[in-house]
Amino acid sequence: MAFVKNSTSIESDFLILGSGLAGLFAALCASRHGTVTVLSKSGLPESSSSWAQGGIAAAIAADDSPALHLEDTLRAGRGLCNRQAVEILTQEAPLAIQSLQSLGVVFDQNAAGEIDFGREGGHSRRRVLHSGGSATGESFISVLIRRVRENPQIQVLENTGAVDLMSDSTRCFGTIATHAETKKNLLLRSPRTILATGGAAGLFERTTNPPTSTGEGIALAYRAGAEVMDMEFMQFHPTALHIKNGKTFLISEAIRGEGAYLLNAKGCRFMPDYHELAELAPRDIVASAIYKEMTTAGSDCVYLSLLHLDANFIRRRFTNIYESCLAQGIDITSQPIPVAPAAHYMIGGVRTDLQAKTSLEGLWACGEVACTGAHGANRLASNSLLECLVFARRAVESASEYLLKQDFTASSDQPLNILNESHLIHTPDLGKLLNEYVGIVRSHSGLIEARQRLLAIMKANHKSSSEMGNHQLVASMMIEAALLRQESRGVHLRSDFPAENPDWQKHIAFQKGKEPRFLCI
Ligand code: FAD
Ligand code: SIN
Repeated sequence: MAFVKNSTSIESDFLILGSGLAGLFAALCASRHGTVTVLSKSGLPESSSSWAQGGIAAAIAADDSPALHLEDTLRAGRGLCNRQAVEILTQEAPLAIQSLQSLGVVFDQNAAGEIDFGREGGHSRRRVLHSGGSATGESFISVLIRRVRENPQIQVLENTGAVDLMSDSTRCFGTIATHAETKKNLLLRSPRTILATGGAAGLFERTTNPPTSTGEGIALAYRAGAEVMDMEFMQFHPTALHIKNGKTFLISEAIRGEGAYLLNAKGCRFMPDYHELAELAPRDIVASAIYKEMTTAGSDCVYLSLLHLDANFIRRRFTNIYESCLAQGIDITSQPIPVAPAAHYMIGGVRTDLQAKTSLEGLWACGEVACTGAHGANRLASNSLLECLVFARRAVESASEYLLKQDFTASSDQPLNILNESHLIHTPDLGKLLNEYVGIVRSHSGLIEARQRLLAIMKANHKSSSEMGNHQLVASMMIEAALLRQESRGVHLRSDFPAENPDWQKHIAFQKGKEPRFLCI
């Protein structure tokens, strides 16, 4: 269909919510099948995708194979990966790389003119492609923005956030959105809505994420009736800059891939005591080791030391990290970097099948908002950008084959709702609460405290628990899932259940109006 517009509504063949790597790539794929509207609550360049550093994993080196990539991903995922999703992810990685190259992305090369593969935690091979040194995300996104802007099939609405999906609880037919400044509401109608709104780590006080990562897509989908899964699995990145002014900035795992050491408060290297891969152990192991070292020493950080590495190489290979630290008064070539874990990646999200279809007809999800099960209980580094591309393509393939069973326009002809203010409750304390009680190590008593404090926040805002705003709803799902999982597995650590329990080799799924479901996938 052509774009159908009036002052309060827009109709198109595909509606894409979110403008990170998943959303922009989905838009480009969808433009081959019809008209596309991309909605973003931020400007196009603002997303976690733009901030990505280390790179994108793909088994394309001569000594590598998708089977090895699969093995590494499954090992990192601690028995909870959906094997079929990982097979798809690792086998379709080379195609994803070709797609980026054909759009104009250029990957960094070594002196011999070959792709320069980086290494990160949990990978048995050097298989991480990067671009612009450690400014990989910015480099990808600037290319994709150019391609989207020049495409006549795609229209972009920036600074306009989706606040509710339009659905009749069996089917989604678009979204209600509000402009950030004018507060004007808009109905965006489409038979095919693709959710690509990113993760939820930005809800934590200490985070590597931009302010756009607030899990709204998860709340929207849940409210509309879609199933949400694995909400207890928030991945903490081991090494985020830790300085007195509270500013965080990711210090890429790729730096450890080049040989940097982690030192405790006494200046001693500790990772070899925790894992045979030392600083390159999977991320959950490094983050929990750092937590233990900090707790033992009573320190609020550990140190990443690059002092034994070539300074010129560091400045060239990790230019943006070098410059960002220098702006904070730290020359990483001559001073150890104070680092501590920070909330980084939401493994859970809107449950999808292998074609990125959610449990709600007319709604697909891809990228960090989705839960394909590919990451299990601990995501392997640099598999996320890859997942955005692989499952955005699959979402569009599936959506473009979707045949309407009934007249779309008639069923979507809803009156323009007045925004329910409860979706917009502002709770400055939420980040602190999550940091304190839903952080790297959780306990029953801490999680109960978190639940009660969240209810107190609702009460202070004169809301009942059924009226939670989108951010509170996502926080509440994290708390409830973390309470239910009575074991420690991957990124979910319980001080009162410190061991992994084979009975818990299952996923926890939530759906509005139903009891939690436990799934073995
Ligand atoms: P995002 O890139 O987060 O984009 C989401 C978009 O949705 C944003 O544009 C946002 O404005 C919009 N949005 C949100 N809510 C709404 C709403 N209600 N309505 C409309 N729009 C909305 N992964 C790797 O694989 N390799 C790396 O090297 C790597 N480095 C990272 C470094 C940092 C600092 C961070 C934070 C993450 C990193 N990750 C990395 C993770 C990876 O970047 C993300 O998982 C991935 O980019 C998510 O992409 P996305 O498109 O799903 O979401
Ligand atoms: C990093 O560069 O350390 C981030 C990689 C990732 O989150 O996958």
